[in-house]
Amino acid sequence: MEIKIANTELKEITSIFYRILIPRPIAWVSTISKEGIDNLAPFSFYGGVTANPPIVSLGIGKRKGKHKDTAQNLLDTKECVIHLTNVELSEKMVMTSADLPPEEDEFEMAGISKLRSTDVKPSRIKEAHIAMEGKLYRHIEVGNTPGDMILVEIVRIHIDDSILDENGKPDVSKIDPLARLGGRKYASLNEAWDIIRPN
Ligand SMILES: Cc1cc2nc3c(=O)[nH]c(=O)nc-3n(C[C@H](O)[C@H](O)[C@H](O)COP(=O)(O)O)c2cc1C
Repeated sequence: MEIKIANTELKEITSIFYRILIPRPIAWVSTISKEGIDNLAPFSFYGGVTANPPIVSLGIGKRKGKHKDTAQNLLDTKECVIHLTNVELSEKMVMTSADLPPEEDEFEMAGISKLRSTDVKPSRIKEAHIAMEGKLYRHIEVGNTPGDMILVEIVRIHIDDSILDENGKPDVSKIDPLARLGGRKYASLNEAWDIIRPN
Protein backbone atom coordinates (compact mmCIF):
# COMPACT_ATOMS: atom_id res chain seq x y z
CA MET A 1 0.00 0.00 0.00
CA GLU A 2 1.22 3.48 -0.81
CA ILE A 3 -0.50 6.77 -0.15
CA LYS A 4 0.20 9.89 -2.16
CA ILE A 5 -1.03 12.61 0.16
CA ALA A 6 -1.96 15.01 -2.64
CA ASN A 7 -4.38 12.40 -4.12
CA THR A 8 -5.95 11.23 -0.83
CA GLU A 9 -8.96 12.53 1.08
CA LEU A 10 -8.24 14.27 4.40
CA LYS A 11 -10.37 11.76 6.37
CA GLU A 12 -8.29 8.84 5.06
CA ILE A 13 -4.99 10.65 5.68
CA THR A 14 -5.86 11.48 9.30
CA SER A 15 -7.11 7.99 10.13
CA ILE A 16 -3.84 6.47 8.85
CA PHE A 17 -1.55 9.18 10.27
CA TYR A 18 -3.02 8.77 13.78
CA ARG A 19 -2.51 4.99 13.58
CA ILE A 20 1.15 5.09 12.53
CA LEU A 21 2.48 7.97 14.60
CA ILE A 22 2.73 5.73 17.66
CA PRO A 23 3.19 5.30 20.55
CA ARG A 24 2.48 8.91 21.51
CA PRO A 25 2.91 10.48 24.95
CA ILE A 26 -0.08 12.39 26.29
CA ALA A 27 0.19 15.91 27.66
CA TRP A 28 -2.64 16.45 30.14
CA VAL A 29 -2.77 20.23 30.03
CA SER A 30 -4.35 22.58 32.54
CA THR A 31 -4.84 26.24 31.65
CA ILE A 32 -6.89 29.12 32.99
CA SER A 33 -9.13 31.46 31.03
CA LYS A 34 -8.88 35.23 31.28
CA GLU A 35 -12.10 35.03 33.34
CA GLY A 36 -10.32 32.72 35.81
CA ILE A 37 -12.00 29.37 34.88
CA ASP A 38 -9.75 26.29 35.07
CA ASN A 39 -9.56 24.06 31.98
CA LEU A 40 -8.10 20.57 31.55
CA ALA A 41 -7.65 18.56 28.33
CA PRO A 42 -5.35 15.86 26.86
CA PHE A 43 -3.17 16.30 23.76
CA SER A 44 -1.06 13.59 22.12
CA PHE A 45 0.42 15.66 19.30
CA TYR A 46 3.03 16.44 21.92
CA GLY A 47 6.77 16.22 22.03
CA GLY A 48 10.06 17.53 23.32
CA VAL A 49 11.80 20.17 21.21
CA THR A 50 14.90 21.14 23.18
CA ALA A 51 16.18 20.75 26.75
CA ASN A 52 18.03 24.09 26.98
CA PRO A 53 15.71 25.41 28.24
CA PRO A 54 13.13 22.58 28.31
CA ILE A 55 10.60 23.34 25.56
CA VAL A 56 7.76 21.09 24.39
CA SER A 57 5.37 21.42 21.47
CA LEU A 58 1.60 20.93 21.45
CA GLY A 59 -0.33 20.43 18.21
CA ILE A 60 -3.86 21.69 18.84
CA GLY A 61 -6.44 21.47 16.05
CA LYS A 62 -9.17 24.05 15.51
CA ARG A 63 -12.79 23.30 16.47
CA LYS A 64 -15.29 24.67 13.96
CA GLY A 65 -12.65 27.20 12.84
CA LYS A 66 -12.00 28.43 16.39
CA HIS A 67 -9.18 27.86 18.89
CA LYS A 68 -9.85 25.04 21.35
CA ASP A 69 -10.12 26.33 24.94
CA THR A 70 -6.56 25.21 25.80
CA ALA A 71 -5.08 27.14 22.86
CA GLN A 72 -7.26 30.19 23.53
CA ASN A 73 -6.27 30.20 27.21
CA LEU A 74 -2.58 29.83 26.39
CA LEU A 75 -2.83 32.75 23.96
CA ASP A 76 -4.74 34.87 26.50
CA THR A 77 -3.05 34.03 29.81
CA LYS A 78 0.27 32.51 28.52
CA GLU A 79 0.61 29.75 31.14
CA CYS A 80 -0.16 26.05 31.61
CA VAL A 81 0.73 22.93 33.56
CA ILE A 82 1.49 19.72 31.65
CA HIS A 83 0.98 16.43 33.50
CA LEU A 84 2.07 12.88 32.78
CA THR A 85 -0.81 10.43 32.51
CA ASN A 86 -0.78 6.84 33.66
CA VAL A 87 -2.98 3.77 33.40
CA GLU A 88 -4.72 4.48 36.71
CA LEU A 89 -5.77 7.98 35.62
CA SER A 90 -6.57 7.04 32.01
CA GLU A 91 -10.39 6.99 32.24
CA LYS A 92 -10.48 10.39 33.97
CA MET A 93 -8.00 11.79 31.44
CA VAL A 94 -10.27 10.72 28.56
CA MET A 95 -13.29 12.26 30.34
CA THR A 96 -11.52 15.63 30.23
CA SER A 97 -11.41 15.50 26.41
CA ALA A 98 -15.17 16.23 26.40
CA ASP A 99 -16.07 19.33 24.45
CA LEU A 100 -17.32 21.44 27.36
CA PRO A 101 -18.13 25.14 27.07
CA PRO A 102 -15.25 27.35 28.31
CA GLU A 103 -17.18 28.32 31.45
CA GLU A 104 -17.23 24.69 32.68
CA ASP A 105 -14.32 23.30 34.69
CA GLU A 106 -13.11 19.83 33.57
CA PHE A 107 -11.37 19.22 36.93
CA GLU A 108 -14.77 19.26 38.64
CA MET A 109 -16.50 17.31 35.86
CA ALA A 110 -13.94 14.44 36.03
CA GLY A 111 -13.54 14.50 39.85
CA ILE A 112 -9.88 15.55 39.78
CA SER A 113 -8.28 17.35 42.73
CA LYS A 114 -6.45 20.65 42.27
CA LEU A 115 -3.22 21.87 43.79
CA ARG A 116 -1.97 25.43 43.57
CA SER A 117 1.00 25.83 41.21
CA THR A 118 4.11 27.79 42.19
CA ASP A 119 5.17 29.95 39.21
CA VAL A 120 1.98 29.92 37.11
CA LYS A 121 -1.72 30.57 37.73
CA PRO A 122 -3.30 27.34 36.30
CA SER A 123 -3.91 24.66 38.95
CA ARG A 124 -2.09 21.34 38.83
CA ILE A 125 -3.51 17.84 39.22
CA LYS A 126 -2.95 16.43 42.70
CA GLU A 127 -3.21 12.82 41.49
CA ALA A 128 -0.51 13.23 38.78
CA HIS A 129 3.02 12.09 39.68
CA ILE A 130 4.69 14.58 37.36
CA ALA A 131 3.52 18.14 36.67
CA MET A 132 5.47 20.67 34.61
CA GLU A 133 4.65 24.35 34.98
CA GLY A 134 5.11 26.15 31.66
CA LYS A 135 4.87 29.49 29.90
CA LEU A 136 3.97 30.23 26.30
CA TYR A 137 7.18 30.43 24.26
CA ARG A 138 5.75 30.75 20.74
CA HIS A 139 2.55 30.23 18.77
CA ILE A 140 2.72 29.24 15.12
CA GLU A 141 -0.23 28.54 12.83
CA VAL A 142 0.50 25.36 10.86
CA GLY A 143 -1.23 23.59 7.98
CA ASN A 144 -4.35 24.27 5.93
CA THR A 145 -6.94 24.68 8.70
CA PRO A 146 -4.57 26.08 10.19
CA GLY A 147 -3.92 24.29 13.49
CA ASP A 148 -2.19 25.84 16.50
CA MET A 149 1.36 24.73 17.21
CA ILE A 150 2.18 25.97 20.66
CA LEU A 151 5.66 25.86 22.13
CA VAL A 152 5.76 25.85 25.92
CA GLU A 153 8.84 26.60 27.99
CA ILE A 154 8.93 24.53 31.17
CA VAL A 155 9.87 26.62 34.20
CA ARG A 156 9.31 24.18 37.09
CA ILE A 157 8.88 20.40 37.37
CA HIS A 158 7.10 18.70 40.29
CA ILE A 159 7.99 15.03 40.75
CA ASP A 160 6.29 12.96 43.44
CA ASP A 161 9.00 11.60 45.77
CA SER A 162 7.29 8.16 45.75
CA ILE A 163 8.47 7.52 42.18
CA LEU A 164 12.16 8.37 42.67
CA ASP A 165 14.78 5.62 42.43
CA GLU A 166 17.81 5.27 44.72
CA ASN A 167 19.70 7.86 42.59
CA GLY A 168 16.91 10.43 42.95
CA LYS A 169 15.74 10.01 39.34
CA PRO A 170 12.10 9.33 38.30
CA ASP A 171 11.55 5.59 37.75
CA VAL A 172 8.89 5.11 35.07
CA SER A 173 8.17 1.53 36.15
CA LYS A 174 6.61 3.02 39.32
CA ILE A 175 4.24 5.21 37.28
CA ASP A 176 2.84 2.88 34.58
CA PRO A 177 2.74 5.70 31.98
CA LEU A 178 0.08 5.64 29.31
CA ALA A 179 0.80 5.75 25.58
CA ARG A 180 -1.71 6.63 22.91
CA LEU A 181 -2.09 4.40 19.87
CA GLY A 182 -4.50 4.95 16.96
CA GLY A 183 -8.21 5.64 17.44
CA ARG A 184 -9.43 4.62 20.91
CA LYS A 185 -6.46 2.38 21.69
CA TYR A 186 -4.01 2.98 24.53
CA ALA A 187 -1.05 0.97 25.85
CA SER A 188 1.10 0.74 28.95
CA LEU A 189 4.84 0.00 29.04
CA ASN A 190 4.93 -3.73 29.78
CA GLU A 191 8.65 -4.16 29.42
CA ALA A 192 11.64 -1.81 29.29
CA TRP A 193 15.27 -2.65 28.49
CA ASP A 194 18.60 -0.97 27.76
CA ILE A 195 20.35 -0.83 24.38
CA ILE A 196 23.94 0.41 24.43
CA ARG A 197 24.68 3.03 21.76
CA PRO A 198 27.82 2.84 19.61
CA ASN A 199 30.70 5.16 20.67
C1 LIG B 1 -5.79 10.95 24.52
C2 LIG B 1 -6.26 12.13 23.72
C3 LIG B 1 -5.35 12.87 22.98
C4 LIG B 1 -5.77 13.99 22.24
N1 LIG B 1 -4.85 14.69 21.50
C5 LIG B 1 -5.22 15.79 20.83
C6 LIG B 1 -4.26 16.55 20.11
O1 LIG B 1 -3.06 16.25 20.08
N2 LIG B 1 -4.69 17.68 19.46
C7 LIG B 1 -6.00 18.09 19.51
O2 LIG B 1 -6.34 19.12 18.92
N3 LIG B 1 -6.93 17.37 20.19
C8 LIG B 1 -6.57 16.25 20.86
N4 LIG B 1 -7.51 15.55 21.58
C9 LIG B 1 -8.88 16.08 21.69
C10 LIG B 1 -8.97 17.17 22.76
O3 LIG B 1 -8.62 16.67 24.04
C11 LIG B 1 -10.42 17.70 22.79
O4 LIG B 1 -10.69 18.38 21.58
C12 LIG B 1 -10.72 18.61 23.97
O5 LIG B 1 -12.12 18.88 24.02
C13 LIG B 1 -10.00 19.93 23.91
O6 LIG B 1 -10.36 20.62 25.07
P1 LIG B 1 -10.35 22.18 25.24
O7 LIG B 1 -11.32 22.78 24.26
O8 LIG B 1 -10.73 22.34 26.66
O9 LIG B 1 -8.93 22.64 24.96
C14 LIG B 1 -7.14 14.39 22.27
C15 LIG B 1 -8.06 13.62 23.01
C16 LIG B 1 -7.63 12.50 23.72
C17 LIG B 1 -8.63 11.68 24.50
